[in-house]
Amino acid sequence: MTKHFTHIRQLNAEQGMHLVRRAKAMKDSRFTSSLLHGKTIMLIFEKASTRTRISFDIAVRQLGGGTIFMTPMESQLGRSEPLRDTARVLSRYADGMVVRTFGQQKLDELMAFGSIPVVNALTDQGHPCQVMSDMLTMYERTPNLASLTVAWVGDGNNMANSLVEAAMVFGFTLKLACPKGFGPDVELLAEAAASGANVFLMENPEEAVAGAHYVHTDVWASMGQEEEMRERVKVFSRYSVNEALMRKAAPGACFMHCLPAHRGEEVMEEVFEGQSSIVWDQAENRLHMQKAILEWVFTQE
Ligand code: CP
Repeated sequence: MTKHFTHIRQLNAEQGMHLVRRAKAMKDSRFTSSLLHGKTIMLIFEKASTRTRISFDIAVRQLGGGTIFMTPMESQLGRSEPLRDTARVLSRYADGMVVRTFGQQKLDELMAFGSIPVVNALTDQGHPCQVMSDMLTMYERTPNLASLTVAWVGDGNNMANSLVEAAMVFGFTLKLACPKGFGPDVELLAEAAASGANVFLMENPEEAVAGAHYVHTDVWASMGQEEEMRERVKVFSRYSVNEALMRKAAPGACFMHCLPAHRGEEVMEEVFEGQSSIVWDQAENRLHMQKAILEWVFTQE
């Protein structure tokens, strides 16, 4: 059966912890293998990327495979060839697709019409590979993930949605501070509540950060929302992570950002470059988690 990785909540707690521990072991041993020898992974990116693209490219090479990078600009995708046709053609050549796109339904179409694994490298609805590697970054410091209180400050975007899913799988407490009307996906929040997950949505950043072990944020306008930025700056101005806000968190709390960051907007320079910031470990861990995800997808259980 073809295995895909599109959402964190497709994992049960055991699978989630397996991926985190496996990524940590791969990091510690500088793991390489021939698992993907003779295989080619398509990297299909409809949006810009530095970390996700490069870490997946290197991860595939370290597992013995090859990659082909594909964008709409340089392919027939940009000239309206249907995704369902592209999925069927690529499935005849390649062995997997790592896809960054807009709507989640595009991944659904690739999976429905293709016959090779699909990995979600970011959609408007979720960023599961990033949040799985963030779980590794938190695990390295606090292995008992269920004991954590995690704060999210800012837009209830794809990162926030994937953190909600992670709270459902890993059992930590998640407090999200988002402006009214900018919260995470409403149906997902309802699903989290029904599952008994400790996920709390509020508007006040101080309340969300109080006692948190990790404080996460992201840009105020995600890719594709740039024209809304002028309006968003007004809405989000009280959602900057600054030193005063970090002081409300638990002693020794860490600041996290998936990057790229806009200093002076969602995070102040003194926090981004300060003692509490672990953003470079966070970026590094993308590579190790991508390898664990690829291994999981390409290994039958
Ligand atoms: N965090 C993240 O996804 O970075 P890129 O957009 O550079 O891939």
